Amino acid sequence: MASFRHLFKPDPYLQSEDDKRVQTDLSGTGQIPSHVGIIMDGNGRWAEERGLTRGAGHQAGIASVRDITRAARELGIKYLTLYAFSTENWRRPRKEVALLMSLLRKMLHEEMKEMRENGVRLNTIGQSNALPKEVQRDLFGAIDDTSDNDRLTLTLALSYSGRWDLVRAMQMMALDIRRGKVSPEDIDDRLVKSYLTTAELPDPDLIIRTSGELRLSNFLLWESAYSEIYVTKTAWPDFRRDDLYDAIRDFQRRERRFGLTGNQVKKAEEITPQQESYIQRIVNALTKGN
Ligand code: IPE
Ligand code: IPE
Ligand code: MG
Repeated sequence: MASFRHLFKPDPYLQSEDDKRVQTDLSGTGQIPSHVGIIMDGNGRWAEERGLTRGAGHQAGIASVRDITRAARELGIKYLTLYAFSTENWRRPRKEVALLMSLLRKMLHEEMKEMRENGVRLNTIGQSNALPKEVQRDLFGAIDDTSDNDRLTLTLALSYSGRWDLVRAMQMMALDIRRGKVSPEDIDDRLVKSYLTTAELPDPDLIIRTSGELRLSNFLLWESAYSEIYVTKTAWPDFRRDDLYDAIRDFQRRERRFGLTGNQVKKAEEITPQQESYIQRIVNALTKGN
């Protein structure tokens, strides 16, 4: 049997002993972000630097999606949101858009088994009905197939933009006001959030952008109000689990203040260290202490 071993390619994305050690260290050192959003940028430049077509860069990025999804699940991240295609990306050359759509289908087919077996629930945000019919069919098929899973919610932002979502929310809210279901005085942060396509997701704790640009490019505009932002020069096709660990290490060194002073935050941490949400912890401590 051993002589056949060389015929089987080892899976390079499996959790190694080193991974387990790093993941345990990260969980022991600080908080693992509950929701991580990633702006997967730089596929085109990655390819062009290598004399390849932009499409080859998009193709190469699929391996990063696989590795990061696995690592996120192993780390206990509960929500991973990947910005895969923006509303503005429709304006790219038709051939590139078509290739991105076919790669999306390929990825859904290839990752289905793994998602089903590993507790990954697929979700999507964005204007799904703008996607080609066959993409919609595969996407919603995969979402249905994984709907009972609860270890990691993997949300693909497709034909998505933060402004699109906010405009859509405002239209729906206006309709509900016209129907008398909501009155203008009821509108607050919570109500606005409930109309967004991200209503069921907590706000992202950490937003990672690959390939160096210092902008959000219309990603999770409402939800990112207090997200920590981490930008790396590494292009998406080169971004792997070790880069995710670096981002989380950096996140764990930040002091999230949510508009309060550093002292208030420290006090809150001492009083109720066990409460599950960081902001909740601060707000509770302040209302108790004052
Ligand atoms: C990210 O890579 C993928 C999508 C936006 C669909 P890009 O295609 O934007 O790559 P760059 O930024 O041009 O290098
Ligand atoms: C952001 O990348 C959108 C996605 C990663 C899907 P872009 O490449 O479209 O953003 P800009 O044009 O550099 O701002
Ligand atoms: Mg780009």
